[in-house]
Amino acid sequence: MSKRDLISIFDLRKAEIDGLIKEAVKLKKEKKRTPPLKGKTLAMIFEKSSTRTRISFEVGMYQLGGTALFLNSNDLQLSRGETIRDTARTISRYVDAVMLRTFAHDNVVQLADAASVPVINGLSDLSHPCQILSDLLTVYEKKGDYKKLTYAYIGDGNNVLNSWLEAAGVLGIKLNIATPESHKPPQAVLKKAMAMSPESITLCHTPVDAVRNADVVYTDVWVSMGQENVRMEKLKAFAGFQINGALLQHAGSDAIVMHCLPAHRGEEITSEVLDGRQSVVFDQAENRLHMQKAILKFLIK
Ligand code: CP
Ligand code: NVA
Repeated sequence: MSKRDLISIFDLRKAEIDGLIKEAVKLKKEKKRTPPLKGKTLAMIFEKSSTRTRISFEVGMYQLGGTALFLNSNDLQLSRGETIRDTARTISRYVDAVMLRTFAHDNVVQLADAASVPVINGLSDLSHPCQILSDLLTVYEKKGDYKKLTYAYIGDGNNVLNSWLEAAGVLGIKLNIATPESHKPPQAVLKKAMAMSPESITLCHTPVDAVRNADVVYTDVWVSMGQENVRMEKLKAFAGFQINGALLQHAGSDAIVMHCLPAHRGEEITSEVLDGRQSVVFDQAENRLHMQKAILKFLIK
């Protein structure tokens, strides 16, 4: 069988997402260490900072009986001009899977194309599939289901929203989005997701329209990694798109609030909401670990 990669949620079938969630639930309950990946190694290449992704993959690999290598891209020959493809071909001789966190999405596509081992997208400027898979696990735990719910995403048309759009396309979940006109998600992702599931995605005029009757209210930072130079411009564009107590009043009273973290308190979300009764953000962070383990087991044979 040919190897599988996880570059985008579009790479997965609905039944496979179901399977990953079931596997993660099972792994989360297991008290003893299961060693299905004994003797296996994951290389983790980071071009950007990380707390959750790095720690959850590293600890996850350890708990599955394997090892993870943290590689800062600045320390690799990549930073001195060795190509992604040559790097992929070399690393494939040493390890059983590679995770890459990168700026240009094409880097992870090229890496997957040239590597003979599975490649996992640990976040690119275009998407963040592992985040959304673990978020679906959190929703499933909190609501007992993740398919027949209404999701509201308020904020930037960024990598996290793109992966939500992909999930809406594959799973047919209802996703209301409110972004400033100037920061909509890329047309290509939007169009593909809408073509896969025409009834799923609604572009709302205001955050209030988006959160009305939502079961899940989601946001992410306004200034993603690598956008620090346009910070002031973005803060201006996002005025009115904050998740705060007043906005939350328009959602269902049992709606949960989610954020992939790290949060910029007082920008896209207030501390009152982030630390409030409806917030599940630290369960979300924990579930990165359980879902990474399910993903690793799924990809590394
Ligand atoms: N949510 C997430 O990917 O967090 P890190 O940037 O800390 O890995
Ligand atoms: N959109 C954010 C997500 C961080 C996990 C970023 O790319 O910085």
